[in-house]
Amino acid sequence: MSSDATKGLEGIVAAKTYLSDVRGDVGELIYRGYDINQLAGNIGYEETVYLLHYGKLPNQSELSALKTKLVSYRQLPQGVIDLIQSLPKDTVPMNALRTGISALGCFDSSSEDNSPESLQEKALKIIAQIPIVTAYFHLYRQGRPLVESRPDLNEAANFLYLINGGTEAEKDSVDTLDMCYVLHADHGMNASTFASRVTVATLSDIYSAVTSAIGTLKGPLHGGANEAALNMLREIGDVKNIPKFIEKAKDKNDPFKLMGFGHRVYKNYDPRAKVMQKTCHEVLAEIGKKDDKILQVALELEKIALKDDYFIEKKLYPNIDFYSGITLNAMGFPSTMFTPLFAVARTAGWIAHWKEMYLDPKNRIGRPRQLSVSYTHLRAHETEADL
Ligand code: CMC
Repeated sequence: MSSDATKGLEGIVAAKTYLSDVRGDVGELIYRGYDINQLAGNIGYEETVYLLHYGKLPNQSELSALKTKLVSYRQLPQGVIDLIQSLPKDTVPMNALRTGISALGCFDSSSEDNSPESLQEKALKIIAQIPIVTAYFHLYRQGRPLVESRPDLNEAANFLYLINGGTEAEKDSVDTLDMCYVLHADHGMNASTFASRVTVATLSDIYSAVTSAIGTLKGPLHGGANEAALNMLREIGDVKNIPKFIEKAKDKNDPFKLMGFGHRVYKNYDPRAKVMQKTCHEVLAEIGKKDDKILQVALELEKIALKDDYFIEKKLYPNIDFYSGITLNAMGFPSTMFTPLFAVARTAGWIAHWKEMYLDPKNRIGRPRQLSVSYTHLRAHETEADL
């Protein structure tokens, strides 16, 4: 644990949740009793949403009812589309997403209705609309026309259909994106979930909670690490440069860190990173780039770091973001879309946490204390003067 207890809330239990369990010492992630290795590649994103929200895997009719609901909510209010299309084209996509979700709340006349029925509808509405906001901003900034969603496509397929400008994606790409969504859907008391839970605890509305979460996910220590990790691998550029960058990462006077490495909870290999590494190999082989230079740099960097005393002693392993950027890049996504994709998937978790809290009659506002340094300092001086 860090020596400064005021930094980073390490070890503090901030909530009780039934949703997911991050078992950092053994490197396991559990959604509602199911190990992530059982789920990734075997169930789709919609089933994961159902599992997180209702505590069990859906049967066929439950799944089909959920899918029908999500499809019915895909249409964005025209005001939100107009707003997205009025943003500067060089807006950072995560900022556009944050603005778009906040705007959805302004155009939803039921945003302040906290009855259980309304909460349930809004939960599914946001899950259905966040990918559309992401895709529409992407099309707009590229100067391409917006495309209508296809009701026969699942969430991952429809997203790819939209960003491809109305062309259906290959099954392999849909399955890979779907699996990425499953891997990213929830992750215990991570920073963005924590931020949204603080917002929810004040009894604020769901749009505000998701907006808080998006702003928090954006940072490179959290969801922004996927983009930062790919940028770092590109900067390293060649396996011969790895030792220099390893030394920089170890140097206390150098702010450089290995992006996509380390985790507050995992003191073992991140199970999502294992799945992502395998997927990365498969995607690159599929597109005939199994000897991709950036993948070689990543593999060699991991190998060297895992044998280095610094990383061994501090228990620093690759996390999910180390391989997700290379995978998404190989699938044709621009790097600025990596973190928005993380947000699309994590919305399932944010909203499941929101429901869990809202339905808890014992909810209390989140209000920690601070150490008032100036006051302590003054008192110390008074005491010195008295002496
Ligand atoms: N490269 C080099 N040194 C590192 C790294 C790294 N990636 N991560 C941690 N350390 C060192 C750190 O300098 C510290 O050393 P010392 O004890 O000598 O001061 C020690 O390891 C403990 O690190 P910390 O920063 O106190 O750990 P934390 O729990 O506060 O931070 C972290 C966790 C994930 C923010 C951090 O490991 C990091 O910045 N990693 C790079 C960014 C990254 O990949 N983030 C994605 C996290 S996983 C997905 C998600 O949650 O979004």
